[in-house]
Amino acid sequence: MADASGPVLGIETSCDETSAAVVAADGRVLSNVVASQVDLHARFGGVVPEVASRRHLELVSPVVRAALDDAGVGLGGLGRVAVTQGPGLIGALLVGIAAAKAIAWASGLPLSPVDHLHGHVASLYLEPGAVDPPFLCLLASGGHTLLLDVRDRGGYRVVGTTIDDAAGEAFDKGARLLGLGYPGGAALDRLARDGDPEAVAFPVARVPGLDFSFSGVKTALLYAVRRLDAAELERRRADLAASYQRALVRALVERTREAAERLGAERIAVVGGVAANSELRAALPDAALAPLALCTDNAAMIASAGRYTAPDPAYLELDAFASAAA
Ligand code: KG4
Ligand code: ZN
Repeated sequence: MADASGPVLGIETSCDETSAAVVAADGRVLSNVVASQVDLHARFGGVVPEVASRRHLELVSPVVRAALDDAGVGLGGLGRVAVTQGPGLIGALLVGIAAAKAIAWASGLPLSPVDHLHGHVASLYLEPGAVDPPFLCLLASGGHTLLLDVRDRGGYRVVGTTIDDAAGEAFDKGARLLGLGYPGGAALDRLARDGDPEAVAFPVARVPGLDFSFSGVKTALLYAVRRLDAAELERRRADLAASYQRALVRALVERTREAAERLGAERIAVVGGVAANSELRAALPDAALAPLALCTDNAAMIASAGRYTAPDPAYLELDAFASAAA
């Protein structure tokens, strides 16, 4: 019989990272192994779902084994298994879910199906330095840009979303226009440090409510790039990167502060891949920020959320879901 207070094995395969982690019931990260497929997808300029699924299939067993070894925990010493159920790429998710079912069944462990977005928020509940709700959370990643009202560790309420691109997508598309490869968010962040953020005044979209829109600023960058010949573009690349990043960060920060004000939230938190952005982190000095290593997709955050997600008694029938419920 599993010891309910034992550590949680988390498995994450929603996109292009195959990850497994062991998190103690008190939130300490005992191991967190992340095998990135970035190089595999870079030549296609984006994640190819079928290629991702096949790679997850090759990696999932060795990654889980490595996570258990790193933690010094055997399957018998676990308290439960937690796996990302969605949102994400269906084929990719199913690989993690199949692995989690097999492990839970073979070891007599309960299995908690985790919402990937709840996982990003739960990156804040890991020790050391766990952050307790209530807070207003900006979740900005490659697939999502959400404002979440978080009242307890068990979930969240969506109060704002993007009406077009996700913030990470806007970073990645901008990076591609500037010849920085895929995924270019981190590279654009680095290039921007050498540029003048006031060089070009990119527009910051104001849409109604607490939503975001990034397609306008992306198109503005496209036109700015098109106006320059190759030599001029090379000379101005850092300025364009810095100005573009300034516009994206300004949009994120303004809306987040506005939401916090409207909801009367005393605390702001930022999670997701874009939370690794240096300018965004600097622009919100009073916010709770997910540790850098836990911003992009990883299984420690999934195990963390798994601590607050009820196990599914009929887990063998568990299915993946592609997009968040409206
Ligand atoms: O959370 P994540 O790993 O995956 C999703 O769930 O989507 O986020 C990945 C996204 C990518 O778009 C990547 O370019 C962006 O996070 N990203 C950054 C930085 N590091 C990663 N964007 C801006 N600045 C960064 N330093
Ligand atoms: Zn993610």
